Formats: sequence, C-alpha cells, structure tokens
Amino acid sequence: MALSKRITKLRKILQTKKLAGILLQVTECGQSLQPNNQNVLYLAGFGGSTAVLLITATKTYIICDARYWSRAALESPDFQLVKLNRGERQTNGINAAFKLAKITKTSSIAFEAAKITYQTAEIWKKELNAKLVPTLHLVERLRQYKEASEIAQLRHACTQTDKVYKAIAKFVKAGMTELEVGYEIDMQLRAFGATDNSFSTIVGSGPNSAIPHHATGDRKLKAGEPVVMDFGGVYPGGYCSDITRTIFVPGKEPTAKMKEVYQIVLAANKAAKAALKPGLMWNEYDKVARDYIDKKGYGKYFTHGLGHSVGLEVHDPFDYGHDALNEGTVITDEPGIYIDGVGGVRIEDDLVVTKDGAVRLTAAPYWKFN
Ligand code: GLY
Ligand code: MN
Ligand code: MN
Repeated sequence: MALSKRITKLRKILQTKKLAGILLQVTECGQSLQPNNQNVLYLAGFGGSTAVLLITATKTYIICDARYWSRAALESPDFQLVKLNRGERQTNGINAAFKLAKITKTSSIAFEAAKITYQTAEIWKKELNAKLVPTLHLVERLRQYKEASEIAQLRHACTQTDKVYKAIAKFVKAGMTELEVGYEIDMQLRAFGATDNSFSTIVGSGPNSAIPHHATGDRKLKAGEPVVMDFGGVYPGGYCSDITRTIFVPGKEPTAKMKEVYQIVLAANKAAKAALKPGLMWNEYDKVARDYIDKKGYGKYFTHGLGHSVGLEVHDPFDYGHDALNEGTVITDEPGIYIDGVGGVRIEDDLVVTKDGAVRLTAAPYWKFN
C-alpha cells in the first residue's frame, strides 16, 4: 500500500544518513486545533492533532494520549500504539517506544528541526535516551511529487470546488457584503463535501480587490466592480484545493481598464500553463507570466509569486530554488494585477505536471464579458 512505500523511501534516506530512526511530532495549532505537521498524515495516515511517530529500520510506533488511541488504531494500523496515560510526559512514551525498538543511548535518531519548537528540542535532548540529530525536510522532499492516488484526490478536491464557484457566480449581487458572499462560499464548500476550508476565504470587492490577501469584511458590493474570490476546501483524506476567480458584480458594465486588466491576467495564466513541462525550474515558470504582464505595461502591479505547491497543505512544501517541476508536481498558476485604490484581478488554477506538459485540475469557467 502507498503508505508502506513512503516509509520504505524514508528508511532508505535514514540508512544513507546512518540514522537508526526518526521522530516526527504533530501538535495542535491555531484556533481550530489543527495538526501542525502533515508529514505525520502522509506517513501514518493519522489525522489527529497530537502524537509522536517513531520510525526505525524495521519498526513503526505511534505515541499518543487517550483522545487519540482509537483513531491511531483505526487510521494507523501498521503502527504499534504506545499509550500515554493522563498526565504522563510525552518523553516517557517516546522512551518506552525506544525500549521496544531496542534504541539505546548511542543510537542516532533524527528529529525534524523545522517542526518542533526550541523548547521541545531542549526537553527531548535532556530526557530522551538516544542521540538526537536535527534533520530538515526529509519527508517534505518526498511530498513534492505526488503519486497517482494523491493526484486523484487533488482532482476530486478541485472538481468539488469548481461546483462551489458555479453556485457563487450566480449568487453574487450588488448590495451584498463581502462577508455574506464569503459565508455562502463556505457553506457551499461544505455542501460539496469539504471537511474544512484550506484557508480563510478571501472576498475582496472594488478597491479591496487590489489587496491580494484582503481580510473579508462588511463592505457592500457595487454593480460593475470586480470581486476577487479566493477559496478552497480540505476533502476527506486531507488534500486541499485553492482557486481564485475574479467576477464583476452584475448591473453595470465594468470599466474598460478592469476589462483590459482581466484579459491580461487571463492570458498570463494561460501562457504559464502552456509553458509548464517536466524539468522546468520554478523561476522559469514564474517568469513566463511575469514577462507577459510586464510586456503589457503592468509589471509593477504583479506583486507576488506566480504560485505554490498544493497537497496536504494549501501551501505544500517544495524546494523552489533547487528542484524542478517534474511529473506529479501539483502547483497553482495565479497571476494577478493589483492597482491600489482602483481594483485588482487574480485568476488562480491548480495544475498537475504530466510527462509532456500540464493539465488543469480546476475547471471553473473564467469571466465572460458581454
Ligand atoms: N489562497 C492563498 C493563495 O492563493 O495562495
Ligand atoms: Mn488561493
Ligand atoms: Mn494559491
């Protein structure tokens, strides 16, 4: 099964680095107690918010408290459960797993330096019976190129999110507030199967559409003005979608300027997609859209990167500076032009790199002017 293949790959990396095993910690974060380490979900299938995995050359353990015993047994059947009792220190559980795995004081055990706090590292160094070795992005590097089953889940996420857009495009009317539109988007996401938002929905109307990550507020939409709507869902299995469509509030013709801006952004989006193929580096991909927008005289208004990797996180890990966009990479294509105080347009699709190009996973229609 897929998870055991991932663990085999990770074990090979540990072996080349002469590491006897690796610890992966997930803790809860934010207002909704979300898990902060999707590497745990990726390797163990465990979607809870507090646990430690120990993966050695031959064994796998999951250490968690009573809130998660049943879920760990259900979601991570290939991992041996080490139960933490109420009030027991997590380090006791890890040491118990070390004992079962025959890890000793002199064994080199990796931990994820980017995933645990300085405070936890200090406690682990003091209390754990092994030699701890910081490592960076071992699992994240595996997550960069998606397997067929992951692409299928991302495709499903995008297809469902397209349906949300279709419902919203008909719903938006002058006089509604951004928050009302955002609320409808969130309800439709759930109605079409999302278990959560992949990030807080952005609805930016009129001059607010020029703020790339606008905080959706109580401004009322006016006829003819642009509305940037950026949203996505998390679907069962954990994969995320991320789409932006810019629409124009019915009842009045949009300005010639905003129409021009829309066509330029759409053409930049299409040009980037057309250029995408295995082996392309991130900066080359970004440059295609940037050069197009620049040539049209709006270069200084495209103020952010062309996109990012998407997967178990909406901003999934990717080593943009070093690794090529090979087959199986899923990324966004989201050029934008933002004219302060006037308005903005962003058009965002999710793409998967194939063996000879790229295909769109999002298929929601673009805006058609009369
Ligand atoms: N939704 C945030 C982004 O598009 O990256
Ligand atoms: Mn987005
Ligand atoms: Mn995005």
